[in-house]
Amino acid sequence: MAATIDYLDKIAATDSAGAYKLHMLEALAVEPGHTVLDVGCGPGTDLAALASAAGPSGAVVGVDHDTAMVDEARRRTAGLPGVQVEQADAHALPLEAGGADRARMDRVMIHLDDPPRALREIRRVLRPGGLVALAEPDWHTLAIDHPDLATSLAFTRFVAEHANRNQAMGRQVPRLAEEAGFTVLSVLNAAPVFRDPATAEQVFGLRRNTRRAVEAGFLDREAAARWREHLDRGPVMVTASFVIVLARADHPAER
Ligand SMILES: C[S@@+](CC[C@H](N)C(=O)[O-])C[C@H]1O[C@@H](n2cnc3c(N)ncnc32)[C@H](O)[C@@H]1O
Repeated sequence: MAATIDYLDKIAATDSAGAYKLHMLEALAVEPGHTVLDVGCGPGTDLAALASAAGPSGAVVGVDHDTAMVDEARRRTAGLPGVQVEQADAHALPLEAGGADRARMDRVMIHLDDPPRALREIRRVLRPGGLVALAEPDWHTLAIDHPDLATSLAFTRFVAEHANRNQAMGRQVPRLAEEAGFTVLSVLNAAPVFRDPATAEQVFGLRRNTRRAVEAGFLDREAAARWREHLDRGPVMVTASFVIVLARADHPAER
């Protein structure tokens, strides 16, 4: 499922997104003069904050493979010196080995053909001692409270099996980071809880995914309609694991 700019903007405006993005920024401890890479930067949501931390002597490189994302990220950062946005693939980054001090990759591995390769690429372009912050959801942990638990479970099974390419990515990040040659420094499971029906709808696309689940034969049409009706009204509680990893690219001799 490719994310749209509108979808990404709505998510970025939620309190939970603001909190985890701030956590990633603080964990990265970007210093003035640093070169910072944002892999899969989308419409440039995080580039201005990185540029502010890296200061006028630093550089921020946003990378995305999608033309519309790159255009929008360039438009949003046009007035920011030191920010460049490159159209490139996360599996083959346009940076020389050791060229970056810091990197972040936020909800991208869930979409990639080869997440381990993308992590090895980040490892390649980070200098020894450089830090990377990684954030990925784990859709296999999606839990939606509902009086009709059977329909709820059928819906979450559909999302776990069909919503994205690598749905259980969150739990895999620490292992994959270590296998790519990083030292994992911290693992946080943010597991945000959504109680407002409109926000839950925005973040989890409940209406669209209910339609898809019916079409895929996971949900009975009438049960799905009743299920949706309750979710629109509330009270709701929707939650899923969201894993944030900070890792260091140590020199091989230091590992
Ligand atoms: C869920 S969005 C996240 C965007 C941004 N990191 C944020 O937090 O708002 C995933 C982004 O990864 C990009 N992406 C997916 N596969 C990619 C690839 N192979 N190479 C580069 N970017 C990719 C998409 O185009 C999209 O902009």
